[in-house]
Amino acid sequence: MNIKVNASSEYEILMDEGLLKRAGKEISRVHGSPARLCVVCDSNIYLLYGRENLSFHKSLSEAGFNVCTYVFPGGEEFKTIDTVQGILDFLSENNFTRTDGIVALGGGITGDVAGFAASIFMRGISCIQVPTSLLAMADSSVGGKTGVNTAAGKNMTGSFWQPELVLIDPKALETLPEKHLLEGLAEIIKAAFIGDLSIIDCLSDSIFAATAKAIMVKKNLVEADELESGERKLLNLGHTIAHAIEKCSGYKISHGSAVMTGMYLTALAADKLGWSTQPMAPYIKKIIDAFGYKVITDFAAEDLAAAALNDKKRAGDNITIVYPDVPGHCEMKILPSENLADFIDTGLKKARV
Ligand SMILES: NC(=O)c1ccc[n+]([C@@H]2O[C@H](COP(=O)([O-])OP(=O)(O)OC[C@H]3O[C@@H](n4cnc5c(N)ncnc54)[C@H](O)[C@@H]3O)[C@@H](O)[C@H]2O)c1
Repeated sequence: MNIKVNASSEYEILMDEGLLKRAGKEISRVHGSPARLCVVCDSNIYLLYGRENLSFHKSLSEAGFNVCTYVFPGGEEFKTIDTVQGILDFLSENNFTRTDGIVALGGGITGDVAGFAASIFMRGISCIQVPTSLLAMADSSVGGKTGVNTAAGKNMTGSFWQPELVLIDPKALETLPEKHLLEGLAEIIKAAFIGDLSIIDCLSDSIFAATAKAIMVKKNLVEADELESGERKLLNLGHTIAHAIEKCSGYKISHGSAVMTGMYLTALAADKLGWSTQPMAPYIKKIIDAFGYKVITDFAAEDLAAAALNDKKRAGDNITIVYPDVPGHCEMKILPSENLADFIDTGLKKARV
């Protein structure tokens, strides 16, 4: 399968079994060799797919690329500016120039840090995204958002930097642990509520087909509003609360569970406030239960609101709440920041009943 994204730059998303083995050939179609490529991966992915004697690396070399590999420790605590600085230094030590590129091989964290490094090295070099987690395949490798966490919060520093190519090999999912599969499913379910409810039915038949549909939902929003000044914000469904939960838990609670909880609390509050055209929380709860996600209600509304608003810095501002309106369609409402805690509390109270 081949999906084209027409953003500020045009690129392809290729989805096919065996792409990891023929990555070099596909990359050479868009990125002329000889060139240097720096594969960025976490230590997990390095062992599974990144090592020099494995087919991915070999295919890049065989296609004529001069390849080096930058390995960093995995985990949200390494999604930092220090990791990006490490990549930038490594590129300089290896004499990378503006015609060279980065290959982000791994999950969403790798894609975000590698993409951010690519966007700022020598004012921007190409980045090829090779997602290996379901979350990265269905969501983060597409659309060009890159970034790192800072003390102030999640993804607080970053850039929009569209990839040159995205290669999705579903074979990689065979090694993905179940708990990480659930992470990706959360973003796919989110896409269903935003733009295509048929994704939910599709999930039981083929995760691959559901992933492609979720990518289409994202692609359409990215093409309409690449820099997120309007409708791309719909992709943030559940994420205001999710990022706050992640931050309040010291990033111990995973993104996927946080997103499902965020969607549910938002739907509960939107239902209670009469915003939604029809009650949507029951739909989301059914899916939460069916997939075995945990609804997280341990944090106080005030703490979540403070985390979401980056503490007092945003006082006086407004915040955009994305809420499910009818199945497969979301709407947005602008809320004064000082009302966010009440909004979250409305959802929390209903969830705790
Ligand atoms: N840029 C965006 O648009 C966007 C969108 C959604 C989420 N994100 C970000 O993505 C991140 C989460 O991504 P994630 O869930 O992929 O996390 P991750 O990158 O940490 O990957 C999860 C874990 O799975 C391992 N892994 C990945 N692929 C594997 C495979 N095929 N086999 C075995 N193990 C594998 C990784 O090594 C890691 O330990 C968050 O930081 C989130 O903010 C970004």
